[in-house]
Amino acid sequence: MKIGMLGSGGVAQTLAAGFLKHGHDVTLGTRHPDKLNEWRTRNSAARTGSFADAAAWADLIVLAVKGSAAAEALRQAGSGNVAGKVVIDTTNPIADAPPDHGVLKFFTSLDQSLMEGLQREFGAVRFVKAFNSVGAGLMVNPHVKGGPPSMFICGNDAAARQVVNGILEQFGWDTVDLGAAEAARAIEPLCMLWCIPGFLRNEWSHAFKLLR
Ligand SMILES: NC(=O)c1ccc[n+]([C@@H]2O[C@H](COP(=O)([O-])OP(=O)(O)OC[C@H]3O[C@@H](n4cnc5c(N)ncnc54)[C@H](OP(=O)(O)O)[C@@H]3O)[C@@H](O)[C@H]2O)c1
Repeated sequence: MKIGMLGSGGVAQTLAAGFLKHGHDVTLGTRHPDKLNEWRTRNSAARTGSFADAAAWADLIVLAVKGSAAAEALRQAGSGNVAGKVVIDTTNPIADAPPDHGVLKFFTSLDQSLMEGLQREFGAVRFVKAFNSVGAGLMVNPHVKGGPPSMFICGNDAAARQVVNGILEQFGWDTVDLGAAEAARAIEPLCMLWCIPGFLRNEWSHAFKLLR
């Protein structure tokens, strides 16, 4: 598939390398393509461009920007360029405030997730929440004791969730499909839980597993 990444940070770069490793084509979209010159020399098969370039070119889009900029990045990508496409939403609604005893602050509530807001604004987009509940370093074929770990996903389009399930299998994850977009109210806060051992004890190498 042609994968358009909206974002240039640790998540976008890590997932882009994962998609290349698994035989996909990648364009990384950013407001500042020049800052990726060094990254491009290490990933010569990938392209870079604007958010709109990446979205227009892609079959499937990965949204990997700061949570508070997620809607703005999609607007810059262009609603016509994202309409009808599967968008993997990796974002978390982390507020601009320090963690409280290791617990991140969110700018959303337990009754309203970031992804539901995006789905309302971009009604034609097939959003699927995924990859938000683990650190970037573990997103691609993670090696953890007792693995493969679980990746919790949700989104309103069942066929889109199936597409993302296929990608997660390639990336070494056991998918836990939690249904419609409302489940993002529970999946986004998993990021808070995942980060607590990191902030308290500098432990960042774990992943969740649903036992059944
Ligand atoms: N880091 C992790 O381990 C991790 C794990 C799971 C989920 N996440 C989530 O994944 C997302 C990406 O995380 P990250 O750590 O890779 O990067 P980040 O530092 O959270 O975000 C960097 C990206 O945000 C974009 N951005 C910032 N302000 C913007 C604005 N006003 N308009 C448009 N774009 C803007 C930047 O675009 P430019 O390229 O144009 O500068 C850049 O690509 C976040 O929502 C994060 O919560 C992160």
